[in-house]
Amino acid sequence: MTVPILNASGCLDALVAPEVARSLDAFVTKTVTPLPREGNPPPRIAETEHGMLNSIGLQNPGVDGFLEHHLPKLASLEVPIWVSVGGFSAGDFAQVCSALDSCDDVATVELNLSCPNVEEAPETSAELVAAARGATSKVLYAKLSPATSDVAESARAVADAGADGLSLVNTIRGLQLDADTLRPQIANGPGGYSGPALRPIALACVYACAAAVDLPIVGMGGVTCGRDALDLVSAGASAVALGTLLFSDPEAPARVRAELEAEVRRRGQGFAAGLRGAAHGSTMSRPASAE
Ligand SMILES: Cc1cc2nc3c(=O)[nH]c(=O)nc-3n(C[C@H](O)[C@H](O)[C@H](O)COP(=O)(O)O)c2cc1C
Repeated sequence: MTVPILNASGCLDALVAPEVARSLDAFVTKTVTPLPREGNPPPRIAETEHGMLNSIGLQNPGVDGFLEHHLPKLASLEVPIWVSVGGFSAGDFAQVCSALDSCDDVATVELNLSCPNVEEAPETSAELVAAARGATSKVLYAKLSPATSDVAESARAVADAGADGLSLVNTIRGLQLDADTLRPQIANGPGGYSGPALRPIALACVYACAAAVDLPIVGMGGVTCGRDALDLVSAGASAVALGTLLFSDPEAPARVRAELEAEVRRRGQGFAAGLRGAAHGSTMSRPASAE
């Protein structure tokens, strides 16, 4: 079985590092909103002991700027393009999805339903997915937050609203104080926590959602090596995305892919056949499609 390797949204600028984008099975854009956004004031990033905090605040050129200036250049990379879509209301999600609907260069739309650095939309995730579903016939992935009491319930709700797949997980809110001033290191205070500390949380979310819904899942959160990717697939992911890792190791996609293949090979052919969802024993229903 081959496991597609993607980047996590916001963790790779494909136009600055096109060779890294080309080493992926699909490139996921930073989240695009209806209007341009400058994002939050600096400092917006802080390193922590076991990960990273960010509060970028959805900086992006807006959907018109994205379509005019970014998408044509991204298309020339000849990697399938997933566009991450965000907003502050169901109308925002519908507007961006409708603008993307006729673009042949867009393979998949990933709905960022869970950014911890901006005000939440007043509608539920299911309402946002339903609005997007009404605006586009593109393949729709719903990206969920790990900060919910029952992520499996959210997965069922977005599946019922028309999501074709799940992206699990986004960052979780965290805070770090400066050792001298005891003030938050990030200008806005808290930020989204990503990296190795997120890994067991992401794994639990993938495990819960794979048991709850029959949808393909892109697993992400703290992946650093092939073994981490293997764990996500065993929990039920059909593809794996690399996020924080790409800031320190741009060659990670090829390395993680090779390490994952070696992990699977080492365990033998019989294991490879039942790899997806192996952590569930025989209890998970597995969709036929790998992506
Ligand atoms: C600097 C930075 C920017 C991010 N921007 C976005 C974004 O625009 N949209 C989104 O859905 N997720 C965004 N994320 C979250 C990642 O896509 C991913 O869900 C998260 O970082 C967990 O994966 P990781 O632990 O491998 O980094 C961002 C993460 C980081 C670190």
